Amino acid sequence: PQSSKIFDDPFSIVSHEMSNLAKSIANLIGSGHPILNRVSSYYFEAEGKNVRPLIVLLLSKALSNIPVEQRNRIEIDTHDVTDQYHFKGTPGSKETIAGKSVDDSISPLAILHGINPKVILDPLSKPMDKLPQFDAMNGILPKQRRLAEIVEMIHTASLLHDDVIDLSDSRRGRPSGNIAFTNKMAVLAGDFLLGRASVAIARLRNPEVIELLSTTIANLVEGEFMQLKNTVMSQSDTIVNDGEKKTIPEPTGKVPTKQHEYSISRPEDVDHITNVNAAFEYYLHKTYLKTASLMSKSSRAAAVLSGSQDDIIENCYEFGRNLGLCFQIVDDMLDYTSSDAAFGKPSQADLKLGLATAPILFAWKEEPKLGELIARKFKEPGDVEIARRAVEKYGGLDQTRLMAEDYCHKALTNLRCLPESDARSALELLTNSVLTRNK
Ligand code: FPP
Ligand code: FPP
Ligand code: MG
Ligand code: MG
Repeated sequence: PQSSKIFDDPFSIVSHEMSNLAKSIANLIGSGHPILNRVSSYYFEAEGKNVRPLIVLLLSKALSNIPVEQRNRIEIDTHDVTDQYHFKGTPGSKETIAGKSVDDSISPLAILHGINPKVILDPLSKPMDKLPQFDAMNGILPKQRRLAEIVEMIHTASLLHDDVIDLSDSRRGRPSGNIAFTNKMAVLAGDFLLGRASVAIARLRNPEVIELLSTTIANLVEGEFMQLKNTVMSQSDTIVNDGEKKTIPEPTGKVPTKQHEYSISRPEDVDHITNVNAAFEYYLHKTYLKTASLMSKSSRAAAVLSGSQDDIIENCYEFGRNLGLCFQIVDDMLDYTSSDAAFGKPSQADLKLGLATAPILFAWKEEPKLGELIARKFKEPGDVEIARRAVEKYGGLDQTRLMAEDYCHKALTNLRCLPESDARSALELLTNSVLTRNK
């Protein structure tokens, strides 16, 4: 079973859900096309960290410990998610259905939502003797489980696309999708995953959650675009697969007039940021969109689905935001320090891509001349080396770590809005281990 490899035991409270994750996702992405099936399931076969579903599940579990009086009453509707049952609960009644005490059969769920069960079976749903085992629900609602799956699907779709954009050759310790299957198939498989994720999102039947998740998909693209605007697209970028080896020509800035001309062009409005504070602002905004948005909005969605009150929902959102920022800042630091083998993907890549992340921005604060290298995206021979030495000289990595720690502490503070529980402790541990991870 897939489990979150970097963080082992305290997460066993959701290990059942985590081990079902891959299987449930597999059910969501089946198609009638065998090759499409291979490409779209490819990244799920290797062990990712599954960090996002882990967070959604732990948070859902932690939210289940909020006393009933402090929640808005929500309608439990598992039908669309699980193909099982549809319940509506009315406080105070004690009915039996099919000879079973409803209290017995749904009480964990009922307690969870303050519904003393009067269960109205949806006429379309399955017979009562197949009532699902709510003891096995572990405080986590079916919709929250589905949310965890959706979030990993969106993330994986973005990785398929990202590896095409970044010309990457490895991911999760294996050849990346673009290398294993060609760019075209990798892109299409990503689109397919997004399509299936959208169906699953719609079936959550919760307009607020639909809006959150749709926005996060748009945010991923916006973040990626902000980064793209800042990257070198040099002549050395070659299209490495699809059978042909072609070099992307330098953009002319003109709209191609002939069909065969490349439409790839460097965005003309590349921001020439000359001021280090503005550069940090740009970097953090990009980081929010690219990375923290998915975590913050899915954390918020988990809280919305739990029926929690607004201040809790807000803290869950902030938790995901701070954790996501922390995570990406650490990721950018690891890009400088890790090896390909340890990272499971290319390291030392950002400077070569022309990307100025936190470590070099901190060095720029001390050494104004670095602004020129950053502006020309480390394009001149020797630039990357100079930048690397400057990061070392000015302690860019230590300062980056401090920045990540700051977001980590904020995330921990956000978690204190939740009642103490094993799930909350596990989230605290996870938050701390984002700082200490090395892959
Ligand atoms: C990894 O970043 C990439 C992302 C966090 C998001 C990429 C988003 C897109 C490609 C937009 C398309 C989005 C969808 C939903 C299809 P990275 O390149 O810094 O990290 P890496 O080292 O893991 O490649
Ligand atoms: C690769 O994801 C994507 C990135 C490096 C972008 C980083 C963003 C995050 C990891 C999201 C925020 C995380 C938290 C804890 C809030 P990955 O490194 O997770 O790749 P994997 O899925 O292959 O492990
Ligand atoms: Mg990448
Ligand atoms: Mg990228």
